[in-house]
Amino acid sequence: MSTEQGKHKAELLDGALLADEIKLEVSGQIAEMRQRYGTVPTLAAVQVGDDPASEVYVRNKIRACEAVGIRSEHHALAAVTSTSELLALVQSLNTREEIDGILVQLPLPSQIDESAVIEAVDPAKDVDGFHPINVGRLAMGHPGLVPCTPAGIIELLDRYQVQISGANACVVGRSQIVGRPVAQLLLQRDATVTICHSKTRDLPGVTRQADILIVAIGRAGFVGREHIKPGATLIDVGMNRLSAEDDVRRFFGSEAERRLQVLEKRGYTLIGDVNPAEAIEVAGRFSPVPGGVGLLTVAMLMRNTLKAAQLRRALDQ
Ligand code: GUN
Repeated sequence: MSTEQGKHKAELLDGALLADEIKLEVSGQIAEMRQRYGTVPTLAAVQVGDDPASEVYVRNKIRACEAVGIRSEHHALAAVTSTSELLALVQSLNTREEIDGILVQLPLPSQIDESAVIEAVDPAKDVDGFHPINVGRLAMGHPGLVPCTPAGIIELLDRYQVQISGANACVVGRSQIVGRPVAQLLLQRDATVTICHSKTRDLPGVTRQADILIVAIGRAGFVGREHIKPGATLIDVGMNRLSAEDDVRRFFGSEAERRLQVLEKRGYTLIGDVNPAEAIEVAGRFSPVPGGVGLLTVAMLMRNTLKAAQLRRALDQ
């Protein structure tokens, strides 16, 4: 914490630094695997359609594989792909011995039965941790493959020595990808966990009790001063696009000019679910967007792919 011109400034939690550390660690272990066993893990990334955000995410995942030494395959299917066509691809990836991890980028086009696809992935290759078997293992506190963003959030809290045990932790959002699994992980680490959602009464009254506040709801800049306990640790998991100049000015205060330039160049600028200017004034520690947990998701995917390979092939860990 520091004070500048009388205004409190939260310590920023640097996801990029931690993501680099994790990837370095994974690449060392992969080099060792190659040396000892003459093999490296393989990840199959499946993308359906041309959603621009998914395209960026999948590209980043493939690049990270190259950086750490994981072999990767990119399966890009047309937007009109049917559930049965996608299930056939997943089945073939399940049966191919050299494939260690299967990642189906979400969201899928509306004609596809997403649950059927998630349940078709071999739980041993489910590097996203979305299969009901892995969700159940997590709920029971048993070892398994854990969803990447939630696992990254715990790593970030640990790295910055945020005490989880005994803390009041509040998760805003109950998605399968972030809200629910991160609540399970916090519970496993002995936090007192509250999960909030769109029907929660007096949301600010509940979130202001939180020592650790995690927000994953997909609403641009929604969480502001009134939601945050002074000194709390605040993790923003949202990833929203702002395309109106007024919104950019409203949310970004002194950073607005730079953001307006980004807007002009790209047509949008990224913002999380938290109002960053207000968060910095009230929170004790803040993981912002971009630069926070997004990069950790990819790093944890690399770690999960290595872990899946080690477990499947019964290699020393
Ligand atoms: N869409 C948004 N986040 C994720 C993720 O972690 N994994 C996959 N497969 N799709 C996503």
